[in-house]
Amino acid sequence: MLSFNQFFESEKLNHSPIFNILNDIKNGSILINNILLNGNPNDLVSSGLKNIQEENVQKLDIIANNILLDLFQKNESINGILSEENENIIQGNKKGNYLIAMDPLDGSSNISVNIPVGSIFSIFKKKNSGSSAIEEDFLKKGKDQECAVYILYGTATIFVIALNNKVHGFTLNLEKKEFYLTYPNINIPENGNIYSINEGNIRSVEKEIKQYVNYCKKLNNNGKRTHTGRFIGSLVADFHRNMMKGGIFIYPKTSDKPNGQLRLIYECNPIALIAKYANAKSSDGAQNILEKKPKTIHERTAFIVGSIKMVDKLLNFYKNE
Ligand code: F6P
Ligand code: MN
Repeated sequence: MLSFNQFFESEKLNHSPIFNILNDIKNGSILINNILLNGNPNDLVSSGLKNIQEENVQKLDIIANNILLDLFQKNESINGILSEENENIIQGNKKGNYLIAMDPLDGSSNISVNIPVGSIFSIFKKKNSGSSAIEEDFLKKGKDQECAVYILYGTATIFVIALNNKVHGFTLNLEKKEFYLTYPNINIPENGNIYSINEGNIRSVEKEIKQYVNYCKKLNNNGKRTHTGRFIGSLVADFHRNMMKGGIFIYPKTSDKPNGQLRLIYECNPIALIAKYANAKSSDGAQNILEKKPKTIHERTAFIVGSIKMVDKLLNFYKNE
């Protein structure tokens, strides 16, 4: 089985700036994983602070953010960083060609109850190097991403990457402190039976979403369910399960969150690129996620992602007006 380094050697990428960035992500994720595995539960619970999205910040969000920022700021290729935890962009090396947007700890409300969490990264090229990054540099369409990564800190820790039109998964071997290519060329089944939505929101979502969820709840001729509902509450974990088994993840607009809950640049775009390269699909109900041009760096969007046939079925409810 190829190690992380051997894989990038085999792809002739081991001397590329992208590899150095991925190596930083890998090393950062091993540090975060150690804290999750060995940390005192008291270190992981709420700090009592709120982040710029007015959500409670758990201590580990800040720790994970600092670990990653520290690594990225030492990387010569990284010009600027956008993080969920920082209102403004963070400067890197003026001469660097790359920009990173990240959610350092996704699903953080799950930390204190020992349920999988993740880290999400979007990596793209800066138009003109030699100058400091500005917000405008990050307002790129998702389709312009060079590469996208998430780490799922689950029953095993998995590093999933979308690069050069393919998706690969690497599993962390804790003894060797190394990731190995365990899931080469991941393809999302074109159909599935898992639907993932926070049904607590169902009364405040668009009618098309209600119609689709009702459709998922239909029984077959034998009175058996046709779909199964699963919602962990960590985007990375919910998406990963659906990617491996076939399914759809939906976080729609709600009456109290008219733009949805998830952030376009550092949550939806990287997941959408992974979905695309694994032959699946994403949308906000009206438009492909990867075609959306962000207007602000922390912008939210409705997010539908998963098996092509399931996403198409849902989008059909929007078309049948
Ligand atoms: O990062 C936001 C997030 O925690 C996602 O990981 C998750 O999918 C979503 O929010 C859950 O939101 P809610 O608690 O509204 O279901
Ligand atoms: Mn998140």
